[in-house]
Amino acid sequence: MVDKVLGKMETLRGFICIPAKSRHELIGDMPTPFRTLLNGNPARVDRYGRVWSPYLKNRFTVGSWVKISKTENGFYVDLAENQDKGAAIRLLKEESILTNEKLETREKYSGEVSDRDVYGHVSEMQINNKLYFNVGSIYIYNDNFLETDTIEDDSIDLVVTSPPYNVDIKYENYDDTIPYDKYLEFTRKWLTKCYSLVKHDGRLCLNIPLDKFKGGHQSVYADLTTIAKNIGWKYHSTIIWNEQNISRRTAWGSWLSASAPFVIAPVEVIVVLYKKNWQKKSGSRKSDITRDEFINWTNGVWSFSGESKNKIGHPTPFPVELPKRCIKLFSFVGDAVLDPFLGSGTTLIACLECNRVGIGVEINKNYCDLAKKRLERHGEIYQQKLGEFIQ
Ligand SMILES: C[S@@+](CC[C@H](N)C(=O)[O-])C[C@H]1O[C@@H](n2cnc3c(N)ncnc32)[C@H](O)[C@@H]1O
Repeated sequence: MVDKVLGKMETLRGFICIPAKSRHELIGDMPTPFRTLLNGNPARVDRYGRVWSPYLKNRFTVGSWVKISKTENGFYVDLAENQDKGAAIRLLKEESILTNEKLETREKYSGEVSDRDVYGHVSEMQINNKLYFNVGSIYIYNDNFLETDTIEDDSIDLVVTSPPYNVDIKYENYDDTIPYDKYLEFTRKWLTKCYSLVKHDGRLCLNIPLDKFKGGHQSVYADLTTIAKNIGWKYHSTIIWNEQNISRRTAWGSWLSASAPFVIAPVEVIVVLYKKNWQKKSGSRKSDITRDEFINWTNGVWSFSGESKNKIGHPTPFPVELPKRCIKLFSFVGDAVLDPFLGSGTTLIACLECNRVGIGVEINKNYCDLAKKRLERHGEIYQQKLGEFIQ
């Protein structure tokens, strides 16, 4: 007899993912996939150890605690007598969704497992794969975003990100000096992936430079916006971020001469794109933006300082203010926010502050460590939120 707490995808799609540690008990050495019966109904076990049956579709609610046993001709599943939500969450955690022991001990779950439960955005089959850190509704995956298969299609409300700019930044294991055409190809791939992951009314806030000069002058903004539109992203608007960084103003080209002056706009942009419908209908419909914030931030010229790379310990962090503004302007409380290039974890700090589900993917393990540490430090201040918030 095996205990299992059902997740959203299991109840919706009609399957039960047998926990890895119990697979031997229920499936044994049977080569998968195979056909079988579940409570006398046709069923199939796939190669990932999931038992599929139309019998399961919408039969149980999310967070139900069930018991599965082996019978002579298949499997039998029934609700466990003990439907104690707290115990169910503990069982869920035992299945190693939560990986950080230190923070785990601080968690105080409020009890209800709602429709978007602790792993609403995650495909059941991949639940543990590459999950580097999770507490409450904050997730870090140490993975190559182009390869990650943990995030469900059509599950993300808002992407906020700043991808590598290809300007020779010394990242630990990403080459930031690839030829420009290769960089555009990389851009096309990750933007396509984000497009599949967002909901129909999902949005993307893309923080990029206006231009790039290192290794040849390029209009990064124009090129990336065009690629995004070719993929299917719809264009909404562009926010100019005036970083107020005057120290950049050193290269003049031909001084006081028209022969070859060098013109640079010391700004970055945030391109705002959406998938199909600009009007957002999904989610809690609860906004947390104040009147003053709304008035100030809907003026699309934002002025605030950049973040210090030395202070943060990452070559290109953006300030929390940037994802925070995007999150409060463009998503509802409880929405799922993704940063596919997490870096030092800034977007997740903003998610924590704003009560959003935050999902970050970062290829570099050291940056994942850094992001986790920043979240923990922030969690000291926002301890209650880090521990208690589960949408
Ligand atoms: C511009 S930085 C993001 C900085 C971040 N906004 C912050 O505040 O720290 C881009 C990050 O993307 C990471 N990266 C590069 N290629 C990646 C990939 N294929 N998948 C996931 N992360 C990647 C780099 O290691 C780097 O940390």
